[in-house]
Amino acid sequence: MARMHILAADQFDRGQLEDLFKLTDSIRTKFGKNKRELLKWHRDKMLITLFYEPSTRTRLSFAAAATHMGMSVVSTENAREFSSAAKGETIEDTIKVLEQYVPDAIVIRHHETGEVARAAAVTDVPIINAGDGKGEHPTQSLLDTYTIWQHHKMLDGLRVVLGGDLLHGRTARSLSKLLACFDGNHIVFNTIPELQMADDIKEYLTERGVTFEEQPDMKKAFTGADVVYWTRLQKERLPEGVHIEQTYTIDSKAMSYLPDSAIVMHPLPRVDEITTEVDDDPRARYFDQAGNGMYVRMALLDSILS
Ligand code: NCD
Repeated sequence: MARMHILAADQFDRGQLEDLFKLTDSIRTKFGKNKRELLKWHRDKMLITLFYEPSTRTRLSFAAAATHMGMSVVSTENAREFSSAAKGETIEDTIKVLEQYVPDAIVIRHHETGEVARAAAVTDVPIINAGDGKGEHPTQSLLDTYTIWQHHKMLDGLRVVLGGDLLHGRTARSLSKLLACFDGNHIVFNTIPELQMADDIKEYLTERGVTFEEQPDMKKAFTGADVVYWTRLQKERLPEGVHIEQTYTIDSKAMSYLPDSAIVMHPLPRVDEITTEVDDDPRARYFDQAGNGMYVRMALLDSILS
């Protein structure tokens, strides 16, 4: 992965993912034993984070990952308002300028689909897509699959329920693509008709022999599931004038449909689609999942920068 742009989940194959998960584990172990050792890894390097959309986990876990490996981080947290984008500068021009400051990688989140790819087209500096509109969120899907692998010790033959806003969210799209790198997974889309997964992802799965079904009934969807991956209603991405009611909450009753061996995941932020009473259930893994983000991003940065 040396000096590669990270733009979409379909650029990864099974071998790369397994290597990345093993590297994540070894970084985690090293970090636990002697975290100062890691400070030497990328001491002379610099990361720029350029975020045009709100973020808590993605931006801060990238910054933390880089800092723990000795990198310096130069950052703008609200580029839509505070960068020259507000004056009409194109992303291409912005990147051509940032290049002059000699960063080793640039992490970008953008509100428009495809905009991060446009940035990558004008530079050799590795560009990492931290979420672009309704498109992709590849590094989130890396930490999502790592979390599944950590729990189930494999990523084959799983029944994975994807629920919530599958139409406007980008995390379930990228995760679907990564699940297709493994064998025998079955995806259950459990949502309301207005928020169903888009056809391009269904076609992607079909082409790769991944079976899937649309199952609107939560009890039926959850029965026998290995993983439930839930997402919030992306209100900020609904077309103007469109109002959709959030009617797909996971509560204790919904948890009773799930096997003991299942895990419940969520990219966060959670709004009201998982009640807080679920947090104490040992199957609720969303906070651990968020914690994994930093280690996975350390492994990713190391793979790109080494
Ligand atoms: C997600 C995103 O930005 O797409 N958040 C994240 O990166 N963990 C999910 C969301 O905002 O709903």
